[in-house]
Amino acid sequence: MFSSLSKAIHFLRSSGNTTAQVYDEILGENGLAQDKITHIPSVNMGYWKEIPVISAQKIHEANRALFRLVSEAAMFSEHDEMVVDVGCGFATNMKYCLENHEITKMIGLNISAFQIDWGNRFLKESGLGNKGEVIMGSATDMPFEDNSIDRMVSIEAAFHFETREVFLQEVRRVLKPDGILSMADLIICTPHNWWQRLLVKSVMKSLYVPAQNVYDYADYKAIMEKSGLEILHIESIGKLVTVPFHKWFWKRPLSQILDYNIFWAISGIGFMFAKMDYMRVVARKK
Ligand SMILES: C[S@@+](CC[C@H](N)C(=O)[O-])C[C@H]1O[C@@H](n2cnc3c(N)ncnc32)[C@H](O)[C@@H]1O
Repeated sequence: MFSSLSKAIHFLRSSGNTTAQVYDEILGENGLAQDKITHIPSVNMGYWKEIPVISAQKIHEANRALFRLVSEAAMFSEHDEMVVDVGCGFATNMKYCLENHEITKMIGLNISAFQIDWGNRFLKESGLGNKGEVIMGSATDMPFEDNSIDRMVSIEAAFHFETREVFLQEVRRVLKPDGILSMADLIICTPHNWWQRLLVKSVMKSLYVPAQNVYDYADYKAIMEKSGLEILHIESIGKLVTVPFHKWFWKRPLSQILDYNIFWAISGIGFMFAKMDYMRVVARKK
């Protein structure tokens, strides 16, 4: 509780968090929640279709459902030579993909040194170190050759990228022709009154979301369509992600809520109440 308070004070005095700080220091090794049995951390809101929000532990089931949704849409094939997870968190989606799909080699890209170390240890301990590796690198300047990647997945990360458009240009550059991007992405929507503006500012500052990434579904769709990729599927799944996630937030043990809330109440309140949507996109390089 005291450490949360000191984080909050530090935050208020600073100009905001960088993305790496959010994941290295603030969410740390627990992420948003840690599975009681496996101790695996979670850093996405989950896909709650047919998963009732009845207990705090359910988030881990919802995380796996999101991994399944995105990875099935990526249409992995045994001929793929190189698959990338952009903004791979603790490499939990990489483990899911490597165990459930025919993948020869998967690279995770991340800018959080803490998560990179954790993820590489986790893959090795899971017996997947020969197939999966997490490396330091940004989604907006990917350390890959042109036309070198068969499939890309990205889960709840592109809202941080500076900017989504630059990321999409990079996707176009590095994907092989006919390569697929399968993505799930949070949208912080345009605020329309002073209260919403305040909430959005708080999210931008606490979670690090660039101002250029704040817009509604229609603009999101237009940006995707202008990317030069062929959009195979685009849909809003906010009702099955952000809405149940906000319910889940209050299902957690009071001690956890208080621990985070001292921090979030000051710096992250917008994350709970700002208008959000959640997108699922599948695109192919022409
Ligand atoms: C909300 S977490 C999602 C993590 C993971 N995809 C999952 O679903 O478990 C966002 C992730 O994006 C990463 N990230 C943010 N900005 C990035 C960038 N420019 N390049 C690569 N990764 C980035 C963060 O470090 C973090 O791991």
